[in-house]
Amino acid sequence: MTKIALVTGANKGIGFETVKQLAEQNIKVLLGARNEAEGKKAEEILRAQSLDVTFIKLDISNSQDIEDAKAFIIAEYGKLDILINNAAVFLDSAWFGNNTETVPMKTLRDTFDINYFGTVELTQALLPAIKKSEAGRIVNISSVSGSFGVHLDETHWLYALKPYAYSASKTALNQFTVFLANALSETKIKVNAVNPGWVQTSIGSDQAPLTPEEGAKSGVAMALIDDNGPTGAFSQSGSILPW
Ligand SMILES: NC(=O)c1ccc[n+]([C@@H]2O[C@H](COP(=O)([O-])OP(=O)(O)OC[C@H]3O[C@@H](n4cnc5c(N)ncnc54)[C@H](OP(=O)(O)O)[C@@H]3O)[C@@H](O)[C@H]2O)c1
Repeated sequence: MTKIALVTGANKGIGFETVKQLAEQNIKVLLGARNEAEGKKAEEILRAQSLDVTFIKLDISNSQDIEDAKAFIIAEYGKLDILINNAAVFLDSAWFGNNTETVPMKTLRDTFDINYFGTVELTQALLPAIKKSEAGRIVNISSVSGSFGVHLDETHWLYALKPYAYSASKTALNQFTVFLANALSETKIKVNAVNPGWVQTSIGSDQAPLTPEEGAKSGVAMALIDDNGPTGAFSQSGSILPW
């Protein structure tokens, strides 16, 4: 039976490439985007490459969009095999430095609304559909900037980069990954977090070493793990990262 996947925030960047790479594996992929025009444009580009991709309007901070996506998936496919929680924002003023003392509450709240609350709400809403899959896979696109291990290690190259709102939202996402994996440990569903690496996108900037195509690979690999693959893990390119 054809596998069905949903990728959020997929009109550009790592999300767009993730849709492409999953569709190239003959998976039917729903391309989630909050901007309808951008989402349809992305869908058109991939369909022109004979890939089975369907745009769905999905602002993950909008509960109605989440309900609509859930209803559409249940009505059309009756299940969801792969959920890639990729959508996120970076709203801190800069990557460099430590803004923990001054970051505005609005920046914190707006960041958490999307990177954390939106992701949790969408995942909870789609769990009944994922439970209908023979082997559900949930991949949370996180970041090493949310890793305690990295920020407790003064020798780590990311130690000086402490944009608080973004990093804290990814730490919360990591906690969600572990707790959900524990909650679903008696099922066939696997829940993992992935760091894509430093990637040339709006969030990563054009200074980054990796292309979006390279950055999508860790998440795609985790979406395609078999029953022996990990659950409740944080990794990049198959290597385990510190929480
Ligand atoms: N690039 C890196 O170096 C890097 C490193 C570590 C982790 N990551 C993670 O990788 C993921 C993808 O980011 P990216 O680098 O590809 O950045 P990006 O090009 O800015 O893509 C982010 C995507 O998320 C979407 N988005 C934002 N808010 C949304 C919402 N409320 N509902 C639905 N979609 C929303 C954006 O849509 P719009 O176009 O409408 O804004 C865009 O499509 C993120 O989770 C990011 O934190 C990236």
